[in-house]
Amino acid sequence: MTSRIIGTGSYMPAQIVTNDDLAKIVDTSDEWIASRTGIRNRRVVREESTSFMAAEASRRALESAGVKPEELDLILVGTSSADHCFPSAACEVQGELGAVHAAAFDISAACSGFLFALNTLQAFIQAGMYKTGLVVGVDCLSKLVDWKDRSTCVLFGDGAGAAVIRAEDTGIRHTVMKSDGAKWKVLSCVSRTNGNFINGRQPKQGYLYMDGQEVFKFAVKKVPECICEVLNESGTDIGDIRYFILHQANYRIVESVAKRLKQPMDKFPMNMEHYGNTSAATVPVLLDELNRSGKLKQGDRIVLSGFGAGLTWGATLLEW
Ligand code: ACO
Repeated sequence: MTSRIIGTGSYMPAQIVTNDDLAKIVDTSDEWIASRTGIRNRRVVREESTSFMAAEASRRALESAGVKPEELDLILVGTSSADHCFPSAACEVQGELGAVHAAAFDISAACSGFLFALNTLQAFIQAGMYKTGLVVGVDCLSKLVDWKDRSTCVLFGDGAGAAVIRAEDTGIRHTVMKSDGAKWKVLSCVSRTNGNFINGRQPKQGYLYMDGQEVFKFAVKKVPECICEVLNESGTDIGDIRYFILHQANYRIVESVAKRLKQPMDKFPMNMEHYGNTSAATVPVLLDELNRSGKLKQGDRIVLSGFGAGLTWGATLLEW
């Protein structure tokens, strides 16, 4: 027994922020951003909360799967920008949907959040504990970036993607998840001061920090490695993979991974031009776009791969 993705959905905020819009608030240009990242536009929330985006994407995924909220056994939300310390975004989504029989919790793995949540749900299903689940990747990094820091604020966008998973005989074939906590400082968002009873300070949220070149080096090394691992361990020929759906941080990372794997670029769909890096949402949003445009055919072999803060990274091989 394994599990299969039977429906997908996504939600992107309506507000579009272009590179030219950003050039009005920081010293940057469309040329600089587009040539280094492939990003031209991103969506940024006006009023939407993280859990609102997650619930909307989930509704669309449930509708596409033909599954009712009450049928869900487990809801996992991969996010690093939940609206509250607690409750989890997953519990808020559960409440919004009326998924009265589901257990719900968040998974914190930054940009790898959707992939780690999917692989976790797969493990629960393989173990026979659950039959039907919902996995969401959602982030609202516009809440966490310093809008005066041109080296980070131009990279990110907000959004959510979701998938409904059910126990079936074919679907997910193999999963790999990795972490390297020794390198956590490369990409982080820490509290600047912790609230403290003795000193009476209130907690203050810090901004997202990134060492861009370290993240670049990490991604182009570790992503091909874990993709090869998932293929080798499942005895799959790389030539049989229809699509590699990678975390959409930067087109140069995707190109470099394709080159290292010696695979043609038409196997690596990209959409960061329109949405920027939506962190945990990039993989499920791209998956939903491909699914809705009819590009995924039954039996297609697909590799999903995420990487991000932690550091965390991983890959999932599945049959559509
Ligand atoms: N506009 C104009 N100039 C800028 C901007 C900007 N938005 N940001 C930085 N610069 C300047 C810097 O100040 C620096 O100027 P200096 O030479 O006068 O000091 C110059 O551009 C070069 O800066 P670098 O940081 O060396 O730029 P680099 O070529 O490495 O590109 C980038 C930065 C695009 C972030 C690159 O490192 C990268 O692709 N990293 C991968 C990380 C990534 O994509 N992270 C996404 C989030 S993490 C994740 O999703 C896992």
